[in-house]
Amino acid sequence: MKEKHTVEDVKNKSVYVSTYGCQMNINDSERMYSLLEMANYTPVSTPDQASLIIINSCSVREKPVHKVHSEVGRYRKLKQKNPNLKIGVAGCVAQQEKKKLFKDVPNLDFVFGPDNIDELPSLVSRLEQGDEKFVSARFDHQKPYQIETLIRNPGVASFVNITKGCDNFCTFCVVPFTRGRERSRNLKALITDINALTKRGVKEITLLGQNVNSYKSDCGVGFSGLLKAVAEDTNVERIRYTTSHPKDFDRELAEVMQKYREKICDYVHLPVQSGNSEVLERMNRGYTREEFIDKALMIKECIPGVSFSSDIIVGFPGETEKQFEDTLTLLDEVQFDSIYAYKYSARPFTKAAKFEDQLTEKEKTARLHKLFDYHNVIATRLSRKFVGTTLKVLIETFDEKTGRVMGRSSQNKVVHCVGDKKLIGQTVDVKVIQAFAQTLRGELVSQKL
Ligand code: SAH
Ligand code: SF4
Ligand code: F3S
Repeated sequence: MKEKHTVEDVKNKSVYVSTYGCQMNINDSERMYSLLEMANYTPVSTPDQASLIIINSCSVREKPVHKVHSEVGRYRKLKQKNPNLKIGVAGCVAQQEKKKLFKDVPNLDFVFGPDNIDELPSLVSRLEQGDEKFVSARFDHQKPYQIETLIRNPGVASFVNITKGCDNFCTFCVVPFTRGRERSRNLKALITDINALTKRGVKEITLLGQNVNSYKSDCGVGFSGLLKAVAEDTNVERIRYTTSHPKDFDRELAEVMQKYREKICDYVHLPVQSGNSEVLERMNRGYTREEFIDKALMIKECIPGVSFSSDIIVGFPGETEKQFEDTLTLLDEVQFDSIYAYKYSARPFTKAAKFEDQLTEKEKTARLHKLFDYHNVIATRLSRKFVGTTLKVLIETFDEKTGRVMGRSSQNKVVHCVGDKKLIGQTVDVKVIQAFAQTLRGELVSQKL
């Protein structure tokens, strides 16, 4: 890090938040900035300008945990230069480690969990009053999940939390321990929230939760009902959601997606994790290989042309070469447009961490490479199918250097084409001329300036 700023440059109350992990954390960091802005903190874009640094951490795999430790280490010099600098760790590592973090990470001033973000203004005032090395990481399981989305400058696309926590306890996953029990937001409050965002120019919202399709409003409405209400009772142009769990994905949901296809995007992220039923059983996923394939076929039948993506873990404890190959053949059967694949990483508190037959790093790495190579062929073939077609693309950004705009199609394909800054926020027709495995290049068909 270049330390071109002096202590004098550091504003009295300025905050930098560094974010790891999933969309929930991205949304949570935005919430922290909003809350601190209300408490007279100025958000800054580099840590050396800040009087307060928060690391919003992720603990889903081992590597992101290491990143937190090394990032706080890097701030040692800043702290020597400015003894008033305060450093906090938030997010899932904070929830998992709590006060243990002070022992491992000496420069730390405070720790707070994902359920304590709204206390941030009072936590920073404790810091200002000289309180040090404190933790706020308690879940209030009785409290209903009532929040309002806080985003300082919503762009074209925004995330909206609909549930928090997870009750599924997949045997590899730390999330139920770091995010607590599952809770859903009230349906009416969500609609009001989304309407407020669209009034501020938001065109696309992504409904967020660890397991969105187990959403249950206090008035009894489930996830399909929520999607229907968002499609009917708000002006949002596009609706996405993530993540849906295969065991809870029913025909009703696919039918609602098809019925409101103009608004609800043609894209389903359906994490399979493994293509072998025995592994799935030991993962406690709640479905077999065959059931997953049947579900994917049902969705494709209800929503012709729908795109799929998935999460996959390789090298789960005890996974044999043959069982791993079942994951490869599943890719042939389901044809995911993209995959997010990871080497299994043993996590604290989880059942699988205690399973016998943990694989070596070398075995896991070899399987991961094999999986990506195998999928790359499929992804490229699927992507090429778009060449010559015209897609509706919601433009999100403009790059001055290249003169190109970037947006996504309903199928979540990233599309680049020559365009104008004024197109940001508009849905335009783009004819695809070239396909890569993950992105498409096209040209504008109509331009509504
Ligand atoms: N709620 C979502 C996913 C949350 S975590 C779901 O149920 O699908 C995102 C992804 O991280 C998971 O889908 C899984 O593929 C991966 N993951 C979770 N725990 C992991 C672990 N211990 N090792 C490797 N990958 C893991
Ligand atoms: Fe983790 Fe499973 Fe819950 Fe997803 S559904 S967050 S993988 S426990
Ligand atoms: Fe990571 Fe926590 Fe999200 S573990 S993936 S930041 S829920």
